[in-house]
Amino acid sequence: MKILVTGAAGYIGSHTVLELLEAGHDVVAVDNLCNSSRESLRRVEALTGRSVPFVEADIRDESAMRAVLTGAPGRAGPDAAGDVAESPESAGATVPAGDFEAVIHFAGLKAVGESTEQPLAYYENNVGGTIALLRAMDAAGVRRMIFSSSATVYGDPVAVPIPETAPVGSPSNPYGYSKLMIEQILRDLAAADPRWSVALLRYFNPVGAHPSGRIGEDPRGIPNNLVPFISQVAVGRREALSVFGDDYPTPDGTGVRDYIHVVDLARGHLAALGHTKPNCRIWNLGTGRGYSVYEAVAAFEKASGQKIPVRVAPRRPGDIATCYADPTRARDELGWQAEHDLDAMMRDAWNWQQQNPDGYGEQ
Ligand code: NAD
Ligand code: UFG
Repeated sequence: MKILVTGAAGYIGSHTVLELLEAGHDVVAVDNLCNSSRESLRRVEALTGRSVPFVEADIRDESAMRAVLTGAPGRAGPDAAGDVAESPESAGATVPAGDFEAVIHFAGLKAVGESTEQPLAYYENNVGGTIALLRAMDAAGVRRMIFSSSATVYGDPVAVPIPETAPVGSPSNPYGYSKLMIEQILRDLAAADPRWSVALLRYFNPVGAHPSGRIGEDPRGIPNNLVPFISQVAVGRREALSVFGDDYPTPDGTGVRDYIHVVDLARGHLAALGHTKPNCRIWNLGTGRGYSVYEAVAAFEKASGQKIPVRVAPRRPGDIATCYADPTRARDELGWQAEHDLDAMMRDAWNWQQQNPDGYGEQ
């Protein structure tokens, strides 16, 4: 299949591009590099021995997206001027014309805390950007989308494990609402026009890195998420991990999450590509097992041989006690299930961090 991947240079995007190429798909990558480095896709090219045509563009630019989807070289209309730049590296692999069968849509802003400070930026980028992309897809006749949603749409769940039929809750931040809004837009679109095929993938907590250690998660600034923070403590970039609350109603008092290896998550997208009926469907991508913060720290210490200093801090606003998936539907309908355990996730997170203590750096 020929697939357009938005947000392709990012953490989950780069791992998914790699899996797509290895499965024999053709990929065109789009990213505005606002939270990623061009280097990730260069490394994917090196790992797979295949080229990834790369278009530096913003998904909010509808005419730029139309140009990519129809294969028009560089730009579609005057308003796209300056917004589409094929990277020099892709000059030998110019964006091949049209014929896309699907779009895997990762592009978006994802920092929960930042979204409460800059709600407009989040709604504009995530919701506005997705609408522009959908309009471009419609115009180009490409009506299959796989969308990166999040377990955050469940809010504080009434019960765990969480099936797709659980009520969506009230996310505690604009980021979460942007995901809920996009889900609704995609549901409405699929209901209005049966030619659309939409997969809503609700990710639980993606962690780890490709086993090669060549690609991985490279957060800017102080990491918000647990595993990147632990990894930076392990290489000496941070002093100690703050454990956000040890008084939750969980076995050891710390928050419980469903951590999923990013390679398993990436493969979930390949599985979803094969599914077309019904024309809008939700799948959880999680392992079905929850681990506490202390269990995650212990697994990282075992994988790395490093002691991780921790100190208990107050609860982080908006956090919930426990969240893990019921992944049965993805197993039954997509034939997909997570294969890597927590030890493998931490081993690969550590391998990446050790090989790239400063991430991709200023490449
Ligand atoms: P990431 O920030 O590494 O990747 C997102 C990519 O999108 C980045 O490369 C960024 O430069 C690009 N981007 C952002 N806005 C853009 C725009 N307007 N035009 C073009 N490119 C743009 O994040 P990730 O962890 O790889 O997440 C990918 C997707 O999965 C996001 O939509 C995120 O919300 C969703 N998700 C992530 C998690 C998680 O914990 N990582 C959990 C649930 C859902
Ligand atoms: N935690 C700490 N210290 C840290 C970071 C995290 O104790 O420095 C704890 C949190 O309190 C939580 C657990 O580790 O109990 C996991 O926290 P993360 O920030 O790694 O992940 P979240 O579950 O809070 O959030 C993730 C994604 C969101 C997404 C959400 C949906 O980052 O984008 O999952 O489930 F919305």
